[in-house]
Amino acid sequence: MRMLSRPRAGTAPAIRNKHAVVGRPTRIKRVRSTPACATAWAYDQVGEAYGAYADGPEAEEGCSTSRFAHADSIVWDAIRKTIDELRERGITRLRLLDAGCGPGTWVGRVAAYARRVNLAIDATGFDIAEGQLEIARRRMEWAAGTSATTRVRFLTHNLADPLPWSDGEFHIVLCNYIVLNHLDRSALPAALGELCRVANHRVIATLRAVASPVTACIVGTEHVSRYHHDRQSGELRLVLKDGSEHVLTLNLYSAERLKALFGARAILKDLRAVDLFLSRFALDENWTAHLASALPGRNQVLRSLREAEDQLCREPAWLDHGTHVLVVAQPRTHVAKISGRHSLI
Ligand SMILES: C[S@@+](CC[C@H](N)C(=O)[O-])C[C@H]1O[C@@H](n2cnc3c(N)ncnc32)[C@H](O)[C@@H]1O
Repeated sequence: MRMLSRPRAGTAPAIRNKHAVVGRPTRIKRVRSTPACATAWAYDQVGEAYGAYADGPEAEEGCSTSRFAHADSIVWDAIRKTIDELRERGITRLRLLDAGCGPGTWVGRVAAYARRVNLAIDATGFDIAEGQLEIARRRMEWAAGTSATTRVRFLTHNLADPLPWSDGEFHIVLCNYIVLNHLDRSALPAALGELCRVANHRVIATLRAVASPVTACIVGTEHVSRYHHDRQSGELRLVLKDGSEHVLTLNLYSAERLKALFGARAILKDLRAVDLFLSRFALDENWTAHLASALPGRNQVLRSLREAEDQLCREPAWLDHGTHVLVVAQPRTHVAKISGRHSLI
């Protein structure tokens, strides 16, 4: 068994923004709170295992073969629809921000789609976990690198701090899968304000819902030997089977609360539960694939569950019961500008 020590209070490493956007001053950020640093440390300790757990091997465009493939396809549909709306409006170079990008999964998927539909793209991903950003850079180089039409950069930044971009700088701002749950509760309203401020068309965010199934965030629960989530304080304590210990922030929110928080800054274009039933019976070789694959009539049942989800996912009583709540928001500042003299291009 390998015991890994956690960073102690007061020893939070400075996070240097080594990859600042060209033409902007390099921002030197220091992680202010130990919880944020501990969360970054947890993702960095598991390294590639996080992406393997969350994404599985990439399959079709925008999809994965992980237990979250169904959730991914819902999130991807929202993203692709938004990109297509922008193309219809004549956007030829898409500006995208992915807040808490982790190993760069969504940036990679959007860049691949943009290439396929001949859309130039300027994509920026940021995260507090340096190790995840290194993985994102490696993956991007391996997938395509950058070119005149595809510009991608990954930066270190803490979402709890103001964002270093001007109002409406990006067409689409993504913030998917637990990033916002990792913030202190008190930091959430300002962070949402910042996401909406720098977006000129849509913010697309998914957060763990208040009644969502248990998650260890960094790896599947099958790798966890001890689990304690204090829902009051938002502290998640894990001991993995390799002996490593992790303490993360995990605050859960009701859809009602998210509606109020986003509603203060944006017009909600969609609010739905993501994955009410399907991941429960997903085929995952590290998990219950051998049991689930033997279920009689499994494919038919999955089809029925998908239909049931379509019917229920926007019903107020069901919103909190998926793995995540998906929010698609149109920032209010943008609505004001669009009716004035500003345009998207
Ligand atoms: C579950 S992963 C999701 C990664 C990515 N958004 C995706 O959908 O694949 C959560 C990510 O949030 C990042 N994160 C947590 N707190 C953050 C913060 N305060 N600022 C920026 N990133 C943060 C973590 O380092 C981790 O990479």
